[in-house]
Amino acid sequence: MTNNMFFIANWKMFGDLKSINSTKKVIKFSKNKKYKRAQIIYCPPYTLLDKFLKITKNSKIKIGAQNCHQSQFPGPYTGSINASLIKSIGAKYVIIGHSENRVSGDTNHIINLKVKSAIKNNLNIIFCIGETLSEKKNKKTNSVLKSQILQGLKNVKNNKNIIFAYEPVWSIGTGIIPKNENLKKQISLIKKMINKHYKLKNPKIIYGGSVSTKNIAELKKISSINGFLIGGASQNSKNFIDIIKKTIN
Ligand code: PGA
Repeated sequence: MTNNMFFIANWKMFGDLKSINSTKKVIKFSKNKKYKRAQIIYCPPYTLLDKFLKITKNSKIKIGAQNCHQSQFPGPYTGSINASLIKSIGAKYVIIGHSENRVSGDTNHIINLKVKSAIKNNLNIIFCIGETLSEKKNKKTNSVLKSQILQGLKNVKNNKNIIFAYEPVWSIGTGIIPKNENLKKQISLIKKMINKHYKLKNPKIIYGGSVSTKNIAELKKISSINGFLIGGASQNSKNFIDIIKKTIN
């Protein structure tokens, strides 16, 4: 395997100025040639984006936001940040379609507008898809993923800068991960969907949901996975580094 692996830290609504100090270890680690295949991306809360950009300036670590407003233009949207503001501060990535935002109102249509706005601003997108537990039980996983992809990326031509993050909702923050054989099948189905509808030969697909130092040895066996979106375990620098070391050895 020679391809780069993504390790994307989704800090969610955690982290204050003090917590930045602990990331210094990760910055130092990122310079180790042995792990040069690791592309580390930090997605801290908006309040820490600027600090993160400064502290990682002389490293290959990239910075992203966790969400954006769908409006391409400035406007009366109290409390919101759009792709253009994210771009203006120097961040390179944005997470769109996370299930925690889908439950609070992000429809596939809104997600589609966010994606288009992010592309206009040349941001790389971490596009999250995933089924809930009841959708899984009702055997709706494939149809749900298909509509998330087709509607979320409707009329999106420039899709080269999209990383697809498959995050089964039932796996996020629960400690439960899919069995490897099931995950492998699911990743291959997602790849087929993307190939078919977007003629994107080698889409980057990462996995997210309870990735930890304990299960990474098992997850890394799936060679079709291009990396991981890591929530809880990424907030602890030691664990985050451990996950990267165990993946690339
Ligand atoms: P988790 O979160 O690793 O804490 O399950 C992943 C995510 O929500 O992106």
